Amino acid sequence: MENNERGSWGSNIGFLLAAIGSAVGLGNIWGFPYKMGKSGGFVFLLVYLALAVFVGFAIMCSELALGRKTGSGPILAYKNYTKRFASVGWLAVAAPFLIMTFYSVLGGYCIYYVITNFIGIFKGVPDSSSFGAILTNPWISIGVLLLFMVICFLINRGGISGGIEKFNKVGMPALFVMLVIIIIRALTLPNAVEGLKFMFIPGYAIKAGFISESPSVLSVLATAGGQMFFSLSLAMGAMITYGSYLSKEENLPQNSLVIVVFDTLVALMAGLAVIPAAVANGINNGIPVGEIKLGGPNLLFATLQDVFHNMGAIGGLFGTIFYILVLIAAVSSAISLIEVIVTMIIDGNTLKGKSSDRSMITVIVCAIITAIACLVAADGLGSNGIAPAQLFGVEVAGWNDCWLDFFDCWSEGLAMPIGAMIMALIIGWEKGSESIYEEIRIGYEGDIHRFYRICIKYIVPIVMCFISAGSIADYFGSQAVGYAIAIGLLVVYWAMCRASGWVDEK
Ligand code: PFF
Repeated sequence: MENNERGSWGSNIGFLLAAIGSAVGLGNIWGFPYKMGKSGGFVFLLVYLALAVFVGFAIMCSELALGRKTGSGPILAYKNYTKRFASVGWLAVAAPFLIMTFYSVLGGYCIYYVITNFIGIFKGVPDSSSFGAILTNPWISIGVLLLFMVICFLINRGGISGGIEKFNKVGMPALFVMLVIIIIRALTLPNAVEGLKFMFIPGYAIKAGFISESPSVLSVLATAGGQMFFSLSLAMGAMITYGSYLSKEENLPQNSLVIVVFDTLVALMAGLAVIPAAVANGINNGIPVGEIKLGGPNLLFATLQDVFHNMGAIGGLFGTIFYILVLIAAVSSAISLIEVIVTMIIDGNTLKGKSSDRSMITVIVCAIITAIACLVAADGLGSNGIAPAQLFGVEVAGWNDCWLDFFDCWSEGLAMPIGAMIMALIIGWEKGSESIYEEIRIGYEGDIHRFYRICIKYIVPIVMCFISAGSIADYFGSQAVGYAIAIGLLVVYWAMCRASGWVDEK
């Protein structure tokens, strides 16, 4: 165990598997496939890929480089790097903390479903009603949440190479194999092709009645952008933290590319595993397609549970494999979020000349997260009368009807896009792209400086204005508000960039 020292990755492949582990998570499994189907199928995929190349890749390189250059997590990394915006590091620590308050609850549900499906092989596989049962039973929800946090604690306390890297080296290949098994089973179900059409054919979601109206351009952009950020674990300090443990020999652009490609690949594979099965099962059981729940927690824990239920005893086996796969994805992401906070404390101690006890720090971090997560668990997605809207008597479209959405709004909806925008402002305009590119150049022989500069200076900020505006508009349910905010943000951004004394590279 790495007490009193920072540690580092054992190998580049170990780092890559850990970074892919952070990226591949619940977002890939329940977010991407449904959003793709709903927001234009193949066209959405193209928008997503363009954003991944011009925005995701550039930010991934920047975060890894910033971490490696400063050798510390987000708080100190920003403090060492910029004077004007040093406090943005706090956003990159608050966001993972907030995300963990609900991610851990969902991870707990995965444990519950692994157990119930396994028992189901012998005693009958449960159906979707089991989800309602767990949501309304705070004690079970809190119990499995605790179990999930104990698993994460045991991994994080092992440190970078002794815990996180070790877990991902086994977990990621296992996840891949299990995913292939589930895809084969899903695609051989009768009517599975309807699910494929929903996912890939533009406009099919409306034509076949899956959804009633087509989304606006702003909302497609915001959906693709928000999904890309969340899925690639960007703007949450995770990649800065993982980058800070990387050696100078490693090739950052190549690593970033591998992470982006694998994350997208797994998102598409997850789509092939879950959507065709969910659609086929719905159609085969006479459920109108518009009523099949294809996204969010309901897809994972209700719709798919019905698929396994309808397969008979063998469904228990497939269910067990599937939920272990989702659990691995959730754990590998959660440990990266926890590590952001643990690293922050270790680095702070080092700065003060104090030694750190990683186990102790990890216990405290996990305990605080668990305490708040208990609220999310007890809330049961708003089932138990303690949602913010119910407690405070104010209802705002979509973001305060349950504690999960409430924390998600602050983290994924606000801290993440604002953090990314400020990052682009610092690198592109305050410090100049060369300040980060000089780090990217170490260990990389090619030359992408021009591409990098254009992305970070122009494309990222403009796209981020629309993503932030779209996500704020989605939370408050008004497109007009969204466009107004997007224009407002662009003006503010432009004004800030014009501020005197800022670099302007040729
Ligand atoms: N990328 C993870 C997912 O797709 O579920 C979630 C996540 C992990 C977001 C780590 C941010 C992060 F720092």
